Amino acid sequence: MPRTLDVYPQEYFKRQDETPDMLFYEQPRPVVHIDDEAILTLSRFYADVLPAKGAYLDLMASWRSHLPVPLVKPDRVVGLGMNAAEMGDNPQLDEGEIWVQNLNEEPTLPFADGEFDAVLCAVSIQYLIQPLEVFQEVHRVLKPGGIFAISFSNRCFPSKATAVWLATTDQQHIELVASYFINSEGWGEIQARVKNQETGSPAGEDPLYILWAPKAPEE
Ligand SMILES: C[S@@+](CC[C@H](N)C(=O)[O-])C[C@H]1O[C@@H](n2cnc3c(N)ncnc32)[C@H](O)[C@@H]1O
Repeated sequence: MPRTLDVYPQEYFKRQDETPDMLFYEQPRPVVHIDDEAILTLSRFYADVLPAKGAYLDLMASWRSHLPVPLVKPDRVVGLGMNAAEMGDNPQLDEGEIWVQNLNEEPTLPFADGEFDAVLCAVSIQYLIQPLEVFQEVHRVLKPGGIFAISFSNRCFPSKATAVWLATTDQQHIELVASYFINSEGWGEIQARVKNQETGSPAGEDPLYILWAPKAPEE
């Protein structure tokens, strides 16, 4: 299976702040990273596309998961992120289902094959320095047909975002994330939903870009 550095130049994944991510994330930040309209767009998307029941993994989780409960009624929601206090404050994560793990040091997920019906990664993909390894792990822990949904806007913590993210436009971010699906292999149709000024969103609102794909059925 292709590794990130087999496919992309190493310079793409350099960051201004190369100190261990744990130092940056040890302080809880109980804030949302997109405005109310973008959160509503994300919640509506989850209502439209996620299986109404089943097990979800919120990857790179914090204190909110933006799930449109009760439109979706997952049996289980697991969080994996960098800060236990942030995830402990998240009312949508199940008790005892919080994992603190630095995906940039350890991309292997602590879950069994086919454990999840959906994996969500909200406004965080720009921080991954081994995206193909993480995508392959997400693929492993999803059931066939399970959805991996990635959302992002145009804001980030620049010191921790990858060089390729900072050097590219919103449109190029869509292409970059699509390339992570393609190069990590084993996904069905990649789809996108966009909320920005070009799609009629008023000036001043945060844009939101959502890419998702199902795990392709086994051959
Ligand atoms: C901008 S916040 C987004 C949080 C949440 N997904 C949301 O929608 O509000 C970025 C999140 O990415 C997580 N994160 C950043 N670097 C990470 C890493 N190396 N490994 C795992 N999680 C990471 C942090 O825990 C943080 O909660």
